Amino acid sequence: MDLDTSHITLIFAAIIACIIYQRLKCRSSPKPQKLPPGPPRWPILGNLLQLGPLPHRDLASLCDKYGPLVYLKLGSVDAITTNDPNIIREILLKQDEVFASRPRTLAAVHLAYGCGDVALAPFGPQWKRMRRICMEHLLTTKRLDSFARHRAEEAQHLVRDVWAMAQTGKAVNLRDVLGGFSMNNVTRMLLGKQYFGAGSAGPQEAMEFMHITHELFWLLGLIYLGDYLPIWRWVDPYGCEKKMREVEKRVDDFHTNIIEEHRRRAREEKGKKTTGEEGGEMDFVDVLLSLPGEDGKEHMDDVEIKALIQDMIAAATDTSAVTNEWAMAEVIKHPRVLRKIQEELDSVVGPNRMVHESDLAHLNYLRCVVRETFRMHPAGPFLIPHESLRATWIDGYYIPAKTRVFINTHGLGRNTKIWDNVEEFRPGRHWLADGSRVEISHGADFKILPFSAGKRKCPGAPLGVTLVLMALARLFHCFDWAPPDGLRPQDIDTKEVYGMTMPKGQPLMAIAKPRLPNHMYH
Ligand code: HEM
Repeated sequence: MDLDTSHITLIFAAIIACIIYQRLKCRSSPKPQKLPPGPPRWPILGNLLQLGPLPHRDLASLCDKYGPLVYLKLGSVDAITTNDPNIIREILLKQDEVFASRPRTLAAVHLAYGCGDVALAPFGPQWKRMRRICMEHLLTTKRLDSFARHRAEEAQHLVRDVWAMAQTGKAVNLRDVLGGFSMNNVTRMLLGKQYFGAGSAGPQEAMEFMHITHELFWLLGLIYLGDYLPIWRWVDPYGCEKKMREVEKRVDDFHTNIIEEHRRRAREEKGKKTTGEEGGEMDFVDVLLSLPGEDGKEHMDDVEIKALIQDMIAAATDTSAVTNEWAMAEVIKHPRVLRKIQEELDSVVGPNRMVHESDLAHLNYLRCVVRETFRMHPAGPFLIPHESLRATWIDGYYIPAKTRVFINTHGLGRNTKIWDNVEEFRPGRHWLADGSRVEISHGADFKILPFSAGKRKCPGAPLGVTLVLMALARLFHCFDWAPPDGLRPQDIDTKEVYGMTMPKGQPLMAIAKPRLPNHMYH
């Protein structure tokens, strides 16, 4: 069919009208904002399929490909990730106000008393109150000093346990002994109980406690698809949410018992104890039971107390145990580093006494070892996810409100733009030219962030550093270490598994040989 002139004119006019309409529409609707670069995404799933069993490594590869700040769509959730010190400084320091919140994940709702704790609570008055209680009543220098005697006893138990195993000539399971050491330190301080060793609360209770905490960690570390794809929650094919509810109930029963036990004991001992900061023998639960509640209430709500106990157990136990196991693995893998650590210990402490907490500030090479361990094996592969409270811009890129932020500390320590020979364990790289004390918990350069920075930084850092340094100092001072028979140091494997914390895939086994006079171990 031929077109006559009037038809052509009509079509031409229609096309021009369409173009004008589109232009006007564009002008009246808000300009699309420029998101940070990121990989192409699938409809509905977004980038979820790009995350494998080691998501910290996947996200670091994306940063290598797309730049220091990467945007992802995880199902229905906006997310960014970075492994770059400047971007991290922008998020945690310059825009701390914007990024100080946490996403309300299902695990946080079920396993942290409806996000009523500190670590997983969204930014707001309740988080501020709970964090203030931690800082002003639980983790004060004075309170922590009051547990120094317990920590010294636990350090001695650790040495004695390893010494007993060394006598058999068999390899020591360092995951077990280091796990027991941090668990006992935390539970003595928190609950007034020791779960492993001489004064143990009983094998049944210890097993129940270990079992619950392991399930809790596993669920908290899970990237649960129901958080990203609401439809997944309807199906819940692996029964994850059901499991969360089960663990929620068991954890709550456990905490209820702890609180009841403390109340009973307090009634029995009424009058004997002092209260407040003076109470050297008060454990954390005693302290929390003695504090007033909100709005003039005589006591804190039980739910608040439980949420805080839960946080302290989850935040303190695994982090230091995992770090210690990695440090031991790397040192046994590098016998020259072991010799240097022992030379330092021999000159600062000598062979005729045990390491004390007051020595830790003077063990500068050991401090470098811990810093290098945090560079290569941060306790968690990511900081706990942050969330933006409102829309903002980073480096000219638009970041929508409620964006989930994955700060990749594992990727930061292996970022080749800021570290050389990233796969090499070389503590000497942290030694300061003037020989001054090496800081572990902070650094202005944001090149290592074991305890984070800004409003959500770890309030337990001084205690965490002490637990890590003390266990390592004792184990390296008291024993020589070698891989189990048949293995060479370089055979020790350093593969990680992903979780809220990031342990070695296989528990570390090693042969211990006492190196101090015999009477020192008893
Ligand atoms: C080696 C030991 C430890 C390491 C590596 C560590 C590391 C961290 C990290 C990376 C965070 C997240 C910060 C963020 O999201 O920006 C954190 C948060 C936290 N840590 Fe630690 N931690 C350790 C020990 C402890 C101890 C001993 C306690 C308490 C007894 C503790 C209590 C907490 C709490 C309550 C939070 C949540 C803070 C908030 O969200 O406001 N941590 N820790």
